[in-house]
Amino acid sequence: MRVLVGPDVPLPEMYAATSEPWLRVNMVATVDGAATGTSGTSRSINNEFDQTVFNLLRQQADVLVVGAGTLRDEGYAPNPLPIVVVTRTGSVPPTLADCAPGQVLVATCAHADGLDGAREIVGDEHVLVLGSHRVDLAALREQLVERGFRRILCEGGPHLLRDLLDQGCVDEVDATIVPRVIGGTHPRILDGPPVDVPLRLHTLLEQDGTLLARWLVDR
Ligand SMILES: NC(=O)c1ccc[n+]([C@@H]2O[C@H](COP(=O)([O-])OP(=O)(O)OC[C@H]3O[C@@H](n4cnc5c(N)ncnc54)[C@H](OP(=O)(O)O)[C@@H]3O)[C@@H](O)[C@H]2O)c1
Repeated sequence: MRVLVGPDVPLPEMYAATSEPWLRVNMVATVDGAATGTSGTSRSINNEFDQTVFNLLRQQADVLVVGAGTLRDEGYAPNPLPIVVVTRTGSVPPTLADCAPGQVLVATCAHADGLDGAREIVGDEHVLVLGSHRVDLAALREQLVERGFRRILCEGGPHLLRDLLDQGCVDEVDATIVPRVIGGTHPRILDGPPVDVPLRLHTLLEQDGTLLARWLVDR
């Protein structure tokens, strides 16, 4: 591994949050900007080095925040870290439905069709109602911090990442570029209406052509 920008220190130190509370997002794309590969998920584009940092970021987190679309598409299973499902409809992905109490939280809104169902599946106290028609993501961040989750890791997907950036909730964007182009029609790491958020490069690593960057949101 080569450090192209940033101090040459052990990887965990390189990725330590610069303050707390801290919300970081972690995404991977090809050189031509595809956030998914032929499988329709990011699994067909990520690689070993990306996975190493993906795992490290989980080790450094207290909680995972993931959009319901990604949880459904990627078939997330319950994790040692609590998973927060962000959903407008209030639907809990089937692969998380048998979770132990507190392993899955649902962040949704009062008008969600699936609100009652979500309460039944994960328990009342684990459903965060954060707005009437949309999920207030800044309020989500605050509530997670109040519950003691100070190191928040979001693993996407593209719509949630766009909304988190739009609502000023993100401190850090970790982006991997894998050394391939795949063409075709695939989402980028952000999807939805335009946003414009300046970033400052904190760290850039390279291994076998894979580039891993830590970008801090420039406030
Ligand atoms: N390259 C990468 O690093 C990476 C990372 C993650 C995912 N992906 C890929 O991205 C694809 C999924 O894309 P996507 O954009 O659909 O993912 P997504 O943002 O996880 O899913 C969209 C769904 O999540 C919920 N959601 C997102 N933002 C929300 C908000 N602000 N408020 C309330 N609910 C919100 C909604 O769920 P409801 O429909 O339940 O209301 C929405 O329909 C998959 O193919 C996945 O593999 C790639």
